[in-house]
Amino acid sequence: MENFLILFSIVSIATLAFITRILKDRRPKQDLPPGPKPWPIIGNLNLLGSIPHQSLHHLSQKYGEIMLLKFGKFPVVIASSPEMARQFLKVHDAVFASRPALAAGKYTAYNYSDMTWAPYGPYWRQARKIFFSEVFNAKRLEFYERIRVEERRNFLSRLGSLSGEPVGLRDHLYCYTQSTICRMIIGDKYMSKSDELQEMVDEWFLLNGVFNIGDWIPWLSFFDLQGYVKKMKALHKKLDSFHNFVIEDHLAGRAAENDVVHALLQMVDDPNLGVQLTRDCVKALIQDLLVGGTDTSATIVEWAVHEILRQPRIVEKAKEELDRVIGRKRWVEENDFPSHLPYIDAIVMETCRLHPVGTLLGPHYATQDCNVAGYNISKGTTVLINAWSIGRDPDSWAEPEAFLPERFVGKETDMLGSNFGLLPFGSGRRRCPGHNLGLKLVRTTLANLLHGFELKLVEDVSMEEEYGLTTHPKHPLNIIMKPTLPPYLYS
Ligand code: HEM
Repeated sequence: MENFLILFSIVSIATLAFITRILKDRRPKQDLPPGPKPWPIIGNLNLLGSIPHQSLHHLSQKYGEIMLLKFGKFPVVIASSPEMARQFLKVHDAVFASRPALAAGKYTAYNYSDMTWAPYGPYWRQARKIFFSEVFNAKRLEFYERIRVEERRNFLSRLGSLSGEPVGLRDHLYCYTQSTICRMIIGDKYMSKSDELQEMVDEWFLLNGVFNIGDWIPWLSFFDLQGYVKKMKALHKKLDSFHNFVIEDHLAGRAAENDVVHALLQMVDDPNLGVQLTRDCVKALIQDLLVGGTDTSATIVEWAVHEILRQPRIVEKAKEELDRVIGRKRWVEENDFPSHLPYIDAIVMETCRLHPVGTLLGPHYATQDCNVAGYNISKGTTVLINAWSIGRDPDSWAEPEAFLPERFVGKETDMLGSNFGLLPFGSGRRRCPGHNLGLKLVRTTLANLLHGFELKLVEDVSMEEEYGLTTHPKHPLNIIMKPTLPPYLYS
């Protein structure tokens, strides 16, 4: 009888536990953001498609401004409205200021030693400080203006000499932004390697934007099913040998004395630095500047040209402003912005609204559990801010799909992080440190293309996108560019 009672108790407790568990599983999880039901193993990876920000935008129409997905077994939250961006990037900025440890950061950024992939913490803070003291403060940027002017003039002269021929604008833009950034960061000497470097930068952006299955389903990482990790390792080898070449040159005194590489090399093993800077760290940080500065600025100009060539009235209005303010005897300079050329500036803003080059910003990562707008977000969740979707938010923007620079004219609109409806550079701790430099390049390049040339299409403009860490037009434009200013300006 006693045995029977014990057995009866055990069975009852087990049954009760089983029923409680089932009931608990069925209870709606009101404290988690809504989202599609995940499949075993892959989670919701099947929903991403080849242009993830668009797929996520469509999903947000169904599930709302904050949604929870699973990439493999990992939680990923998508913020698709200005208010949700504010929650993650301002209200709870410190919790979400880290990055997930993805293969791209490990294999193409010296084990997360650049600033882009570094986890939030003392190393990242130190890197940001170094970037500001050596590159991005107003004085350093002014010091390098000479280089930007020279490279811009070379670019405009090259285009001038191609008058009448169809020109592949993208190649010229990339070549110009790259030579400008290279000269500022590593010096004048490496221009002969610019094609090689351009190829590496393109591949870096591609591989840093991919959704690598092994990141999200770790037991599959060994198989590297998409071949991305193999490509990352090969790219790292090429980049590393380029950086070694540059560093050896600098150490041997064969390069200029006042560039950023020199400044960084002097910090290697400096005992006064809070976190030790190794030679690999220097390479990672240089790489960050080289890649961060090239593709982004060129891509915005490219998107702007795609948009305005579809609307001749915008080109006319811009040229009218340029004729009136600049006249026909000189090129546009950095200090003409932003106050003297409000319409050109409005074109840049409108381009950034519809075509933020980092459509999902960089991935953010929760370092603690956090309640966001009433939802529980657990430590270890990756957060993607859909800046592409936010720029199309119908509550923030009238006629959100229309390219209308006029919407910005006569208004003070911030695009450096305080207006959460327009986030081309992100916001908060991880906001782009290069925004100042980037805007200088974008504004003067676009303005001078419009000021100095008649731009004629030789084919239809396609607005299709090609996704990556920066999202480009899928089909680069060929245009005929006829110089319109006095010939001496192009020589
Ligand atoms: C107009 C051009 C540019 C645009 C649109 C742009 C956009 C962005 C965006 C969206 C981010 C990610 C923000 C986030 O994750 O929340 C970022 C980060 C970054 N950008 Fe830029 N950027 C531009 C120019 C530059 C330039 C010129 C440089 C350097 C020469 C640069 C270096 C970086 C770096 C190092 C980061 C990583 C910051 C971090 O993770 O803490 N960017 N940028």
